[in-house]
Amino acid sequence: MNALVHNYTITPHTTFGVAAKTAGFLTVDSTAALQEALALNTFSKLRILGGGSNMLWTKDFEGLTLKIGIKGICVESENATTITVAVGAGENWHNFVLWTLANNYGGVENLALIPGNMGAAPIQNIGAYGVELKDSFVCCDALEISTGALKRFTAKDCKFGYRESVFKNDLKGQYIITSVQLQLQKPPHQLNTSYGRLEEALQGTPPTIQNVANAVIAIRQSKLPNPNEIGNCGSFFKNPIISKQHYNRLVENHPKLPHYTVDDVKVKVPAAWLIDTLGFKGYRKGDAGVHHSQPLVLVNHGNASGKELHALSQEIKAAVAKTFAIHLEEEVNIY
Ligand code: EPU
Repeated sequence: MNALVHNYTITPHTTFGVAAKTAGFLTVDSTAALQEALALNTFSKLRILGGGSNMLWTKDFEGLTLKIGIKGICVESENATTITVAVGAGENWHNFVLWTLANNYGGVENLALIPGNMGAAPIQNIGAYGVELKDSFVCCDALEISTGALKRFTAKDCKFGYRESVFKNDLKGQYIITSVQLQLQKPPHQLNTSYGRLEEALQGTPPTIQNVANAVIAIRQSKLPNPNEIGNCGSFFKNPIISKQHYNRLVENHPKLPHYTVDDVKVKVPAAWLIDTLGFKGYRKGDAGVHHSQPLVLVNHGNASGKELHALSQEIKAAVAKTFAIHLEEEVNIY
């Protein structure tokens, strides 16, 4: 069991890199250690930390922060065309994608270079370039905080949606994911290359999972800031889903507003377009800024505080609401 640390600076564990402290900090390396930590916990508040790539700390935390460090990839089952693997919640997502590429297992190559750890992946059903976690997800194990009991959640139980799951809604704050099972293709037989930018980037290369991953990595590196170089949490807002009626009204004044059909009555519009159109690209207030090539990403140019980044996000939300009557929802968790 690792030692509990008091009054701990959390800054290096979050990709926004803002200054903040937690009253207690403990890393757990196994489900048993996690159960023990919960049983012995004397703090009244609890916060779960994975890769720290989807959270904005706006103030110090008076509770216990548990860093989930449960590692390991093991084969659960295998047949002629698929393999199911169980992955520890503390495994880095991109390292897992690299492992699938090295073994020629298909299914998650479009999700290369997404920051964060495995345990967070089902919570917001991570997605990029036409693929979401739910497409390869089989089940996950999660510990109920109030009882310490381990429960298995099937894909259906998880109620996945666009950057949504039961863990962000009905069961918010109640469970800690310890391991995730994914089914991969062996050998890869169904590549997903239809996302516009990806299709372009792949022109002329043979359709292999390695080439898809390389193209995704190249696209991401060309427009998304590297959190190791400049603090950020990827997309700060979700792409809003609005009614077709609302879209039709907006398009009268904004004929170039892009849209993707969701169903008969709803469309999704790119938040990046709304923010870009309002002139926020590259906007900066002190060290809190909007990224210059992907305006959906807020960045910490150096010493921005969590409060300053949050204030900037509020300013953007207010401007989007005023011009487009659209309420942007955060993708990042604000604490
Ligand atoms: N756009 C602009 N100006 C810009 C950039 C984009 O107007 O400067 C508009 C364009 O119309 C463009 C559209 O936004 O076609 C979509 O842009 P992009 O393909 O970059 O994707 P996104 O919708 O902004 C989403 C995810 C990303 C994911 C990409 C690729 C969300 C909230 N974000 O971004 O995920 O990598 O698609 O699939 O759904 C993340 O979640 O952290 C993340 C980076």
